[in-house]
Amino acid sequence: MKIIDTHTHLNAEPLLSSIDEVISRAREVGVEKVINNADSIESFSVLEDLSLRYKDFCYQAIGLFPLERKDFEKDMSALRNALRNNHNVVALGEVGLDYHYEKDEESKKEQKKYFEAQIDIAKEFNLPLIIHSREADEDTFNILMNSGFENNITLHCYSGSKEMALRYIKNHKNTFFGIGGVVTFNKSTCFFTFSSARRLVEVVKEVSLSNLLLETDAPYLTPSPFRGKTNEPSYLTYVIKKIAEIKELSEEEVAETLYQNAKRVYNL
Ligand code: NI
Repeated sequence: MKIIDTHTHLNAEPLLSSIDEVISRAREVGVEKVINNADSIESFSVLEDLSLRYKDFCYQAIGLFPLERKDFEKDMSALRNALRNNHNVVALGEVGLDYHYEKDEESKKEQKKYFEAQIDIAKEFNLPLIIHSREADEDTFNILMNSGFENNITLHCYSGSKEMALRYIKNHKNTFFGIGGVVTFNKSTCFFTFSSARRLVEVVKEVSLSNLLLETDAPYLTPSPFRGKTNEPSYLTYVIKKIAEIKELSEEEVAETLYQNAKRVYNL
């Protein structure tokens, strides 16, 4: 089985301090590559170190996370520098809108400004986008659809409805949905996460396998049966198993299609 983890943060602790073990456990189950996603400007150089050290394994997405804003001009120039100079950069991300922690209009306006500017930069660098959208489904959709962006779009850790997913595909057929540990959550986890899991199961059922991607978002969102532990790429086999169950397909077929999707979307 060949696997690509399309969204992870091996720069985050406790993964970074045991990186060799994490990567060797991942390789043992067939993980061939991961895409580390930037979560702050400081992380750009850590992602670069990882790409240099594990050059056939660690790829990167560089972007300004919606809650990581300092000085607009300086932030954009740091972003451009990293996009220009880092190795193995395959996407711009994760970028988007997060209204969970910032609900006031002024912050929302700032977030939109950063998001729109980065969509333009992705066009300029001819890179696909990796989107983070939390409690901001309508605004995220409208900004993306009005931007005229034509490259691949991945909605990472997709948490929207199946209706929204279908609306994306109808308007932008190369939209992809990142599926991870949440899909495996069961009743023993809290009610909130279980209801998002049920919504995600509907999405996986409804959306074609050709529009889905595998991701861990490690160290977060650990799949069942490892809830409470640190997530890592080797646990993706449990997500594959769950998707196969929902789609009524073999695990091999699911893994192979999702592997080919990842290669195609990120030109790997
Ligand atoms: Ni992430």
